[in-house]
Amino acid sequence: MCGIVGYIGKRDVAPLLLEGLARLEYRGYDSAGMVVNTPKSGALKMVKAKGRVRDLEARVPKRFAGTTGIAHTRWATHGAPSDVNSHPHLDPENKVAVVHNGIVDNAAELRVKLEAEGVVFASDTDTEVITHLIARSAADSLEEKVREALKVIEGTYGIAVMHADFADRIVVARNGSPVILGIGEKEMLVASDVAALIAHTRQVVTLNDGEMATLKADDFRTYTTSGTLTNTTPETVEWEAASFDMGGHDTYMHKEMSEQAEAVDRVLRGRIDDRFSTVHLGGLNLDAREARGVRRIKILGCGTSYHAGMIGAGLIEELARIPADAEPASEFRYRNPVVDPDTLYIAVSQSGETYDVLAAVQELKRKGARVLGVVNVVGSAIAREADGGTYVHAGPEVCVVSTKCFTNTVVAFALLALHLGRIRDLSVADGKRIIEGLRKLPGQIEEILAMEPEIEKLAQEYAGAQSMMFIGRVRGYPVALEASLKLKEISYIHAEAYPASELKHGPLALIEPALPTVAIVPNDDLLEKNRAALEEIKARSGRILAVAHQHQEKADHTIVVPKNEDELDPILMGIPLQLFAYHTALAMGRDIDKPRNLAKSVTVE
Ligand code: F6R
Repeated sequence: MCGIVGYIGKRDVAPLLLEGLARLEYRGYDSAGMVVNTPKSGALKMVKAKGRVRDLEARVPKRFAGTTGIAHTRWATHGAPSDVNSHPHLDPENKVAVVHNGIVDNAAELRVKLEAEGVVFASDTDTEVITHLIARSAADSLEEKVREALKVIEGTYGIAVMHADFADRIVVARNGSPVILGIGEKEMLVASDVAALIAHTRQVVTLNDGEMATLKADDFRTYTTSGTLTNTTPETVEWEAASFDMGGHDTYMHKEMSEQAEAVDRVLRGRIDDRFSTVHLGGLNLDAREARGVRRIKILGCGTSYHAGMIGAGLIEELARIPADAEPASEFRYRNPVVDPDTLYIAVSQSGETYDVLAAVQELKRKGARVLGVVNVVGSAIAREADGGTYVHAGPEVCVVSTKCFTNTVVAFALLALHLGRIRDLSVADGKRIIEGLRKLPGQIEEILAMEPEIEKLAQEYAGAQSMMFIGRVRGYPVALEASLKLKEISYIHAEAYPASELKHGPLALIEPALPTVAIVPNDDLLEKNRAALEEIKARSGRILAVAHQHQEKADHTIVVPKNEDELDPILMGIPLQLFAYHTALAMGRDIDKPRNLAKSVTVE
């Protein structure tokens, strides 16, 4: 959600910032802008454009040299997408430039105060108040000016600030929105995401909330907003720069879907213990005695991660026999939940930065709860805030919609469920059975991916639908939810997901030939019940596309997927429907990697 990139060093900064912005575009793409300093005079020059990074690039003047700069790609929160609302925001004297991710909650109030003092605002954004506050500070140093401004700001921010009178530095600060420093050789970078840094350096410092930093070309310093030095040492990012490229695919979504077999292989690697028919998860920080004491598990996540958490809760109940459920973190944190000391909380997030999840974790920790993280991005805010957990090792996911991370997160939950199950009452035989099933997954995923041409044809057939229904039962219901989300996100076809068992309690009224149903029909103990739902739909002349382990007579089309253990089937059954959503959206000419109104990593409420 919005991207920041900044650079200070010796290189020509504008092309470097544009390249960084292009790598961050998936975080927001309704406008972009940058400010660079003029060598010698230090004067700030700005260029901004509504639209994509390529629109900004087209506007960069020929003479735009500079060796220090900050840039931003925006996903609008306050103020419509427009040139003027794009970041950076400058003060009227062109001394201070600010780029900002997050939301200033008291912006309206501060704006009224500043206007009463004679300040004229150029934009409708909340960010502009930060610029004016810094510009109006009488403090001697840029660090102190920023600090004074932050004292009156309520809300979330990741900011980068340049000042024409302090041309040797960029000052940055973090509260709730990621800020990562890239430490180079006589050059420093800053970004809201390692994606923008990795081509230049793998040495990074991730700021904590309440931390600031000063970047100079050959030096950096981190300190708290109250001025205490934090002396952070850089860490090495494991991800390769190439893993952020499209690698010969037309879209990131396609690339990431096609990586799922190797990604699942990675999350399994080194964790299976055949001797005891269990798995080892190094970072859980939960010993066997503690695991046995857990009375309930509550999983919290948003969107696709919430759906992965629903499947995870099912796996934990089935394999470990611990009552478990999942809830959207965004709802949980606002309903003053009862926090039970015997409940283990699990926060699930691809980015590890989703604000609603982070806020839920912080609230739980404040109340003394134990929180584990199931997270993809190493060192992200949620991973650091949690008491322990497991990484899902999907590798970087660039496409706004999640595919390989969803699959790997569900596999990570299967590992956790097996681990807890074998500490509790899951038999050796069942442990072995699940391990065999897990080992089969990468090969079976390859088989499903090879069905792409067939799925593409089906998608073309269904692409004309105005609306679609997705149904599944128990294990299949979260798969239906996730598949319907994928379809609506990238094709903009309206889609609803229902438990198949609920059809006759209302939604059956919608069934008619123009409303196709996608049904998840695994060969498990509910097969006959699921078939009965297909009968009911067919009796109302509804069209049916089934995802099943064998041809379904009542369905107009069946995508037959390989069978695994019943408990692990949901991992595989969602994958053909990712391909289905992809090809439906493609047939409709959608911009798949950048669906309208959406941005990856929602770091605001
Ligand atoms: C949908 C999608 C979103 C995210 C959600 C949470 O395809 O990707 O629904 O799952 O915004 O994001 P993370 O997992 O980063 O917390």
